[in-house]
Amino acid sequence: MADYIILKNKFPSFDKKITVASDKSLSIRWILFASIANGVSKARNLLNSEDVKATKNVIKKLGIKIYSNKDTCKIYGNGIDGYKYKKNITLNAGNSGTLGRLILGLLSNTPNSIKIIGDKSLSKRDFKRVTDPLEKFGVKFILKNNKNLPLFIKGSSNLKPIKYFEKKGSAQCKSALIFAGMRSEGTTYIKAKKSRNHTELLCKYLNLPIKINTRGKYDLIEVKKVNKINPLKYDLPSDISSSAFFMVLTALSNNSNLIIKNVNINPSRTGVITILKKMGVKIILKNVKNYKGEKNADIKIQSADKIIPINCPTSLNTSAIDEFLLIFLVAAKANGVSYFKNLEELNQKESPRLIWGSKILKQIGIRTIITKKTIKIYGNPNLIVNKKIIIKNFLKDHRVFMTCVIAALSFGGKWKIYDKESINTSFPNFLKIIKSLKS
Ligand code: S3P
Repeated sequence: MADYIILKNKFPSFDKKITVASDKSLSIRWILFASIANGVSKARNLLNSEDVKATKNVIKKLGIKIYSNKDTCKIYGNGIDGYKYKKNITLNAGNSGTLGRLILGLLSNTPNSIKIIGDKSLSKRDFKRVTDPLEKFGVKFILKNNKNLPLFIKGSSNLKPIKYFEKKGSAQCKSALIFAGMRSEGTTYIKAKKSRNHTELLCKYLNLPIKINTRGKYDLIEVKKVNKINPLKYDLPSDISSSAFFMVLTALSNNSNLIIKNVNINPSRTGVITILKKMGVKIILKNVKNYKGEKNADIKIQSADKIIPINCPTSLNTSAIDEFLLIFLVAAKANGVSYFKNLEELNQKESPRLIWGSKILKQIGIRTIITKKTIKIYGNPNLIVNKKIIIKNFLKDHRVFMTCVIAALSFGGKWKIYDKESINTSFPNFLKIIKSLKS
């Protein structure tokens, strides 16, 4: 089957309720916590995507039994030191930065050297940001080019707790350090620029020895050695990052309404809602519920009458980090110039997304000015695209593919977008849900 999609028409109006893919960050974390718990953990609605499959395969290779069927997954943890595996194993993190980085914290006490590999995109990404602080605990690494995959990790049975300042706002980095802290004698102190805090909330829910104090833009995290983790039952909510494609499709369509059911609305993830509201999109949260330390809700969105340009506060960057490509599409339709700053981390993702955001906008006739960390977008409220657009060679970045689909359906034009299979990374039924909005 051809691995591209052809789109030729703007999307018609709709008024629907949908459920999108389950949360990827929480699905991966649930598997990792369950793999070191004592006993059987059970999940419902675990995301069934390539990144999550890669996580299950890694855990299996570490000797952990997993049973999955359509809506349930059971993991048979053997305790915090329960991994059992052959010498010289290779673990494949596929496309997943979250898996590739978090697993290093869990392997910080591994007695044998383990090789970690990933796909082409993951192999270009920066692993030094995680291996540098892990080395301070006493973990040894050999990395390709001193910063990339493949890497070799050899742990220590005598990890020393560290004091570390995480300045990038990387939840992957912070989480890897929390896992290593859980394996170290004494107290690990992490001062971390605020980022998604699912790992911390799961630690708290599981009554693990973690303390968090907030100081403005930073969290001060204290972790102590963990001896035992209870198994964890979890029913996964939907992913706000997957919801965002449909929030933006609705905002940019005419006369449309959408409700997205049971989405995780952890405040460290809801930057996209705050930003879109500032840009004039009508969004309401309904049925807000607490669930095991997290918050879930239904999200109701309406088409926007008028999009207001934004000078986006940098304090919202980390809480919307995976949604900027979509936010840029909204800015393309604004009545004026939008400005986004301090976004250098966007070029560290599955593809260099700040560059791709600008490329996509240029293709649809929107002027941008970019630097290594900023973008100015000259919006056009009357934007209609008539030309042919081909999108390819974007390192199979799932979010580039899906953003281009939303651009095609919102602005028109004749699009050929390659690497359709990339949706399997995070949102396998993305195209099916689009079809269902038409019926
Ligand atoms: C994630 C953290 C973010 C995000 C990624 C998922 C996580 O990456 O972009 O999609 O689950 O911890 P960084 O930690 O590199 O910012």
